[in-house]
Amino acid sequence: MAQDKDVSRRDLLKAAGAVTAVAAATVQRAPAIQKVRAANDQVQFGMIGTGSRGSYLLKHLKGIDNGRCVALCDINAENLKHGVDTIGNNPKTFKDYRELLAQKDVEAVFVTTPLFVHFPVTKDALQAGKHVFCEKCLVFKPDEVHALRALANEHGKQILQTGLQRRYSYFYQTVKSMVDKGILGDVHHIHAQWHRNMVNKPSSLWTMKPGGESNIANWRVYRSMSGGLTAELTSHQVDVADWMFGSSPEFVMGLGSLDTLKDGRDVYDNIQLIYKYPKGQKLTYSSVSTNSFLPYFNAGRAEMGEIIMGTDGTVEITVGADGQPPIAWWYREPPKAVAESKAGEKKKAFVAGATMVASGGAATPIPIMTADLDFKGNEGFIDKEVKFAKRWLTSKGVIIQEEQRNPVDTELESFFQNCRDGKRPRADVEVGLADSVAVILSNQAMDEGRKVYFNEIDKAKPAAPAAPKKG
Ligand SMILES: NC(=O)c1ccc[n+]([C@@H]2O[C@H](COP(=O)([O-])OP(=O)(O)OC[C@H]3O[C@@H](n4cnc5c(N)ncnc54)[C@H](O)[C@@H]3O)[C@@H](O)[C@H]2O)c1
Repeated sequence: MAQDKDVSRRDLLKAAGAVTAVAAATVQRAPAIQKVRAANDQVQFGMIGTGSRGSYLLKHLKGIDNGRCVALCDINAENLKHGVDTIGNNPKTFKDYRELLAQKDVEAVFVTTPLFVHFPVTKDALQAGKHVFCEKCLVFKPDEVHALRALANEHGKQILQTGLQRRYSYFYQTVKSMVDKGILGDVHHIHAQWHRNMVNKPSSLWTMKPGGESNIANWRVYRSMSGGLTAELTSHQVDVADWMFGSSPEFVMGLGSLDTLKDGRDVYDNIQLIYKYPKGQKLTYSSVSTNSFLPYFNAGRAEMGEIIMGTDGTVEITVGADGQPPIAWWYREPPKAVAESKAGEKKKAFVAGATMVASGGAATPIPIMTADLDFKGNEGFIDKEVKFAKRWLTSKGVIIQEEQRNPVDTELESFFQNCRDGKRPRADVEVGLADSVAVILSNQAMDEGRKVYFNEIDKAKPAAPAAPKKG
């Protein structure tokens, strides 16, 4: 009891000191100096497709100083104008993307068209010698998987990055190292969901516009142009599972149906999928369009997230959305019980990481720290004190750690950096293709009501050319 009192008195003193240190550092921090990069250091880029995602990226690209927009293209004049207004630096504009690709000053292009147009545009862009950032999913059809791999190999010096931004999140990267270092024990199960209430809160992207299938603005809700929920939502989360488990699935089973949004669309409005990975690992997945509840983070967030479950711990994680930064909470499993000693007294095994915080237990989450709280060894006295203080306050639940930077900004800056240094992107062509294969085969599993093996994608491989006849 006396000891408890001591701890809480020490805690109080520490808290008082910590708060003072954090406050002092906030006051003393120098004003941020905006870095301005020389124009010739910047990668000159064009964008093809300035609709919803394209404009969102342009809004972010405005603040990324190692790239500069020189050209925009869209077949829709209104969307093109919106793109021009968003980037605000008067780029050249085109209706035909091939004209944009013919521009010598364009070094790199963003492909932000509907899914069914990704492959033809990416192919032409690679053949025109451009670096390419193509939004997920990289490709739409099975034969495009093999064709794009062959093209990417032919154009090995050009960067080809997929828009899977979770790969660029500090929190997701931290969780990946926790998994690899065994901090969560054996990770066998991941559960992921992306639930939306499109009935009470219709999303303009998923709402049927006049013209049905003949209107390209409806591309998301027709199978001739889209992979539906699986392509638009699941793709991000199956990529997380592939990354955490370190491989692609062996097979997928699932159930998809169209039960509520019966407005002429032919994509499912709810899907449930089970992916079996090698070594007995599984991803269970759900996406519904009639409810947005998320039972993670004490139900403090809605819609989407992943739970990564190991024998020694669990992580709840989400990348969030605008105004809701990525967040990751770690829960430890109760310590491993060891054999009873001779005296019949049960001992508890030491659990790695258990000493990181004073409190904790199965039901108490430990927020994952942001990169700015890592000790680099070269901090001055005040900085070090502030980091200690913030870490300690975080461990007590007084402050919540949220990722400092939107991973979309990181993926964009990283793309330009890779265009310059030639390094392979984190979300490279193989990551993008594995993700596309998962989407294609998941839809096939639901359509055909059967277990689909991932090696079935090889059926779409072009036959090897016949050996030349002798003689
Ligand atoms: N990474 C993410 O989190 C994320 C989020 C949203 C969308 N996306 C992806 O971005 C892509 C675009 O989605 P969106 O929501 O912006 O769709 P959208 O319909 O809002 O925009 C697509 C734009 O492409 C234009 N377009 C179509 N064909 C074209 C062509 N041949 N040449 C030039 N322009 C053409 C359309 O006119 C439209 O303006 C999709 O693949 C989607 O999956 C990714």
